[in-house]
Amino acid sequence: MTTTLTRPHLSGESQATPFFSVRDIHSYYGESYIVQGVSFDVNEGDVVALLGRNGAGKSSTLRTLARAAEPELKSGEIWLRGEAIHKLKDFQAAQKGIQLVQEDRRIIPGLTVEENLQLAQIAEPKGWPLEQIYQHFPRLAERRKQEGITLSGGEQQMLAVARALARDIKLLLLDEPYEGLAPVIVREIEGIVREIKALGITTIIVEQNAVAALQLANRALILDMGQIVYSGSPDELLANEDLRNQYLAI
Ligand SMILES: Nc1ncnc2c1ncn2[C@@H]1O[C@H](COP(=O)(O)OP(=O)(O)OP(=O)(O)O)[C@@H](O)[C@H]1O
Ligand SMILES: [Mg+2]
Repeated sequence: MTTTLTRPHLSGESQATPFFSVRDIHSYYGESYIVQGVSFDVNEGDVVALLGRNGAGKSSTLRTLARAAEPELKSGEIWLRGEAIHKLKDFQAAQKGIQLVQEDRRIIPGLTVEENLQLAQIAEPKGWPLEQIYQHFPRLAERRKQEGITLSGGEQQMLAVARALARDIKLLLLDEPYEGLAPVIVREIEGIVREIKALGITTIIVEQNAVAALQLANRALILDMGQIVYSGSPDELLANEDLRNQYLAI
């Protein structure tokens, strides 16, 4: 695998420099080598579908990008608008605007919807004010005094996304936002992701529902055994029966 040593967004560089750049990242859970040299660039405003079979390393890749302690990033570089994210810890990456919405949604027990959102805004820099969040998420507005963990699965997913928007957001990482939700709720969450896209928020979305993700995305990546095996347009991918059969089961 070729490794480019070009550092994006150094002063004086051209506008062609990517907004977000992942350079040959390798990460491990203990001895277990999972993310095995992943590189890709993302332009500002892109929605990237990150697809692949179960166990391919999609969640591990998102966690690495958000600088979670596990898996541990052992080599490679991650750059967001010229900032070296690979040198940071998770909370620092979040301060730089990388917001990860994990599969399990991480709603905080004992807190209302509003308190969950307020907690996200304790640290600077803040993102959307609560009123703006409630405009985009009327269901959350109606339930602002309800304990977050008593929301339905779909509402909890909305709260998890809303909480990311309550932080200063430059890159949204969504791990299976439609998982376990009824089709009608999936469409509602899809509508929210579309609004986020229309606002120009750069997003990487991991989904088992590849068709839904590809309908939203303007770029697609396929991960297999911790490596990128496809990078290209959603249309090209949908037209490629071999890739669909081999990696997406569609
Ligand atoms: N905490 C962990 N400790 C050790 N190994 C892990 C851990 N989490 C994940 N793995 C392993 O890393 C590999 C990649 O897992 P990961 O969750 O990133 O895959 P994924 O593509 O998100 O899969 P899925 O589609 O099922 O969510 C798997 O082999 C998994 O068993
Ligand atoms: Mg996963």
